[in-house]
Amino acid sequence: MAAEMNWNEKRWFSRYPELSTDPIPLEPYLSERQFELERERIWPHVWLMMGRVEEIAEPGQYFVKDIPICNASILVVRGKDGKVRAFHNVCSHRGNQVCWEERGAASALKCRFHGFIYDLDGALRSVPDEQMFFNLDKRANGLTPVATDIWEGFIFINLDPHPRETLKEYLGEVGERLSGHPFHEAPRYYEYKAELRCNWKVVIYGFLEAWHVVFLHDKSAGELFGSKENPFGHNLLIKLSDKHRFISLYGNPDYQATPVGGMAFRFGKSLMQVESDTSKMLRTMNPTRSPCWSFDLNNIFPNFQLNVVNGAWYCHRFWPLAVDRTIWESRMYFPPPANAGERFFQEYSKVTTRNVLLEDGSLLEKTQAVMASGAKRHWHLQDEEIAIRHFHDVVQKFVERASV
Ligand code: FES
Ligand SMILES: [Fe+2]
Repeated sequence: MAAEMNWNEKRWFSRYPELSTDPIPLEPYLSERQFELERERIWPHVWLMMGRVEEIAEPGQYFVKDIPICNASILVVRGKDGKVRAFHNVCSHRGNQVCWEERGAASALKCRFHGFIYDLDGALRSVPDEQMFFNLDKRANGLTPVATDIWEGFIFINLDPHPRETLKEYLGEVGERLSGHPFHEAPRYYEYKAELRCNWKVVIYGFLEAWHVVFLHDKSAGELFGSKENPFGHNLLIKLSDKHRFISLYGNPDYQATPVGGMAFRFGKSLMQVESDTSKMLRTMNPTRSPCWSFDLNNIFPNFQLNVVNGAWYCHRFWPLAVDRTIWESRMYFPPPANAGERFFQEYSKVTTRNVLLEDGSLLEKTQAVMASGAKRHWHLQDEEIAIRHFHDVVQKFVERASV
């Protein structure tokens, strides 16, 4: 297939004529006013991925996830009935955070300030010194619930008490394409986490096009994503939906791993490999059935990126702190290793991926640092960067809504 492709053709803009081809302004990446509008009009109204069901497999297991831009701390807990629920992690008495640990297990949730006790379903069970309160209605003062739903084992919440769309409607085409994908078969993860001095969208855009790889990652990954026939690693497929983006990435079929990499790659699959044998691929991956495929990237608005390789998966989440500060969490998920070779492969993948991510993170901070100089007022995006243009457009549509 690769030989038949004209990699030099502009293939995407004509499919999405509603997106302009004009330069895009830098203002939305620098403006405090824009950040406040995003805080008000995007984040409290969208579905946000909190974690996996495997993290709280047993009743009483919980984890806490902060959403700094909404000043929210969310407690996700599996009840005695097996149901996963989410609550604001805020005590009904004087507002203390009920759970302080990032994760744990308990038969009930006890506030450390004055000992209020909540059942796992959020009901306020017990109030110490209760006779001293004035008409405190325990039934009306459980933990504040948050809209929760699960898709393919991913737990999502929506801070809007009345979400505009169900999770299924929100995910739309992404949800359908990945329906039935065995994410649960790769439940072990390695995680990197960093706070970047960067606007959250600038960080995300670092992962929405592939052609920087042959330049920025020339030592760490360049030869993997670019080849003689496709020197800039142009994508196999880009699909834009109303809020989300999908990219199927090219991989160089002639890529030669290092000797150590070659040893590691005999024992598993990672982002840093090319998969040519399409007969062993699930229908949920590599939709063009290209023998030059590396991985698929699903960018789920606003902050969840889900990358699928054959036998493993990766995710990024981006949590804005301020107009120029973002927490970036990156996880790589693998199956439990069955032998020492597979464990070696996973460790190898962990550190080689880290090298690439470090190159991304440090460059993105440098970009943000000079954007505010005013030297440039626009970005000039080429056709392979259409997913960035689309993301920009979706954000501006949310922000420009007259009311929410
Ligand atoms: S704030 Fe939780 S018991 Fe007082
Ligand atoms: Fe990169």
